[in-house]
Amino acid sequence: MSEPRFTARTVIVTGAGSGIGHATALQLASEGARVVAVDLSRERLRHLEEELGDQLITVDGDLADQLTIDRVMAAAGDQIDAVANIAGIMDGFEPTAEITDETWDRVIAVNLTAMMKLTRAALPSMLARGRGAIVNVGSEAGLRGSAAGTPYTVSKHGVNGFTLSTAFFYTPKGVRCNAVAPGPVATNIEAPFRSQWAQERIGPIMQTTLPPVARPEALAAAITWLLSDDAADVSGAILPVDGGWAAI
Ligand SMILES: NC(=O)c1ccc[n+]([C@@H]2O[C@H](COP(=O)([O-])OP(=O)(O)OC[C@H]3O[C@@H](n4cnc5c(N)ncnc54)[C@H](O)[C@@H]3O)[C@@H](O)[C@H]2O)c1
Repeated sequence: MSEPRFTARTVIVTGAGSGIGHATALQLASEGARVVAVDLSRERLRHLEEELGDQLITVDGDLADQLTIDRVMAAAGDQIDAVANIAGIMDGFEPTAEITDETWDRVIAVNLTAMMKLTRAALPSMLARGRGAIVNVGSEAGLRGSAAGTPYTVSKHGVNGFTLSTAFFYTPKGVRCNAVAPGPVATNIEAPFRSQWAQERIGPIMQTTLPPVARPEALAAAITWLLSDDAADVSGAILPVDGGWAAI
């Protein structure tokens, strides 16, 4: 039996109410972490509280709202060891000509700007102690142009750039930053095709190349590895966890 890797460590997990975030919160807690679980859904967090009891602090709120970021920081306290930026939403597979301002603004705000704001808020605690780990959840859509609509694709390419830049600036100060790029995962994320042209263009590609759907626990394993000291020499990596999809 291996040692728990997160004993006495505080880890912020966003999107902890469902899917990849939920599996990651459970994995971290099973290895001793004090988990600060953040999600839009109070209801989902209540279920997590039932599963994890007092190993958990929950914050419900919209991460696109600075007030939620402030509440997460207050809940986490002075020692933040790691952040798992997992919360995210899909678009409706809109190609550029069909994007509404509402979809663009929301997808960028949740998938990218909120990630920056939470990381920005957590960094001073990590830098003060000269150690910390951040893992961002990107997507296969951040590795190519054919896995989602334009807003989501742009947001996830942005996640990669944010990851590399953060790793570049802060790895010398003891803070590692990495990303995982999942292929299809069995979660509650909604991905409705709202574009006829996207259906025609992406549909056949999905049918011929899509790998088997992964379980959220497979992503949690990769995320917790990157957050742990087992990955002490890994920073600035964009790790596909996609059943080999990116190799096609
Ligand atoms: N499921 C997939 O196939 C897949 C593939 C590639 C990437 N991803 C990425 O994985 C991440 C997790 O998604 P998932 O598939 O587990 O989805 P999910 O919908 O099951 O879980 C996401 C959770 O994030 C929460 N959330 C959404 N917006 C929020 C906000 N503004 N503030 C706070 N919480 C918010 C939701 O309430 C939900 O509980 C996302 O970043 C997604 O883009 C998922």
